[in-house]
Amino acid sequence: MSINLSSPWDVNTIRAEFPILHQMHHDQVPLIYLDNAASSQKPRLVIDALDDYYRRYNANVHRGVHKLSEAATEAYEGARVKIKKFINAGSKREVIFTRGTTESINLVAQTWGRANLKPGDVVISSAMEHHSNIVPWQILAQEKGFTIKYLPVTGAGVLDLDVLRGWLAEGNVRLVTVMHVSNVLGTVNPVAEMAKLAHEAGALILVDGAQSIPHMPIDVQSLDVDFFAFSGHKMVGPTGIGILYGKRHLLEAMPPWMGGGDMISRVRLDGSTWNDLPYKFEAGTPIIAGAIGLGFAVDYLSSLGMEAVHAYEQQLTAYALDRLAEVPGLTVYGPDASQKGAVAAFSYGTIHPHDIAQMLDADGIAVRAGHHCAMPLHDQLGCGATARASFYIYNTTAEIDALIEALYKVKQAFTA
Ligand SMILES: Cc1ncc(COP(=O)(O)O)c(C=O)c1O
Repeated sequence: MSINLSSPWDVNTIRAEFPILHQMHHDQVPLIYLDNAASSQKPRLVIDALDDYYRRYNANVHRGVHKLSEAATEAYEGARVKIKKFINAGSKREVIFTRGTTESINLVAQTWGRANLKPGDVVISSAMEHHSNIVPWQILAQEKGFTIKYLPVTGAGVLDLDVLRGWLAEGNVRLVTVMHVSNVLGTVNPVAEMAKLAHEAGALILVDGAQSIPHMPIDVQSLDVDFFAFSGHKMVGPTGIGILYGKRHLLEAMPPWMGGGDMISRVRLDGSTWNDLPYKFEAGTPIIAGAIGLGFAVDYLSSLGMEAVHAYEQQLTAYALDRLAEVPGLTVYGPDASQKGAVAAFSYGTIHPHDIAQMLDADGIAVRAGHHCAMPLHDQLGCGATARASFYIYNTTAEIDALIEALYKVKQAFTA
């Protein structure tokens, strides 16, 4: 079974750019990679960019006057400019290189949060968050004594904005910190509207964009978010590199987090002063190859066009949800395709998700099983774990068909 996708998406040309997709899994079956919410695969352009840096101009940045260091600095800072354009930040000073979403959120907690939050203050998060947007605030709350409230997730798998309005009206809310797209339910949260509500109540908003920026156009200025955190490795970039976007006036006012080289203006034995943005938050030798690679990842996604990426994935996800709905005993969690990113987390009768994932792997299909770093959400779903198929630009309807066939085989094996 297959459908005609209405967008002119040349999936075969895209697949040709991803070397890993052309290997045989277990040396026997073609690889069907459906674990993209965990990490995406990398196109030749990104792999070559890393190779090129290490082969031709590997050197430290910002410090040297020799040719290699100048070339590395130019590529590193060039990547920052590419990312600034990709998210439509107002200035490249608002683009901080970090190790990923987790580090970006911890940075905000440990600088803005540590400097501003006190007993009586409220931070609003949600019950669908990834642990990386729960635990940093819990660690800080233990020390600072502020309160964290978690927006409930409705039965339809969305956040209740009336609860948000009510809590904002009670006062003392300093920050709303929520994910843009759920890595389990796929829910696309209305972060522009939430930003407006937060600002009207005098609060800031941080958005965890780990699962949105790989899949849809992001304009941080039109969303009007104060902080936006994301990871390179989920958007065809390398691991170990990510971004914290922050509004300039907020970043200017925030104290540094890690101390060391590059983040200082002047060091004396009786005290030091800080470098300008963005370097104030980039202590030590940065992740040079990763940043350059992320710049090329952004080039690659831009060449496809993020509107087109989104349109293709919406059709693919709708197709996957229709096909998964045909499988008796299988329950997909979260909203319907119109409100959902490219994620389908499911349970399958009483078959344990790890057994599902293991059997699918034997057929060459890579999915994820577990709590997906969202234990509180799984508590609410009433299961400790789910299996999760997640899609990206290079996946096809034929691969989804193969997933469905393999799921029938799993059922057979467990009823035999
Ligand atoms: C929604 C969400 N937030 C945060 C993260 C953490 O990203 P990283 O491990 O790259 O820091 C993930 C990764 O799975 C995620 O899906």
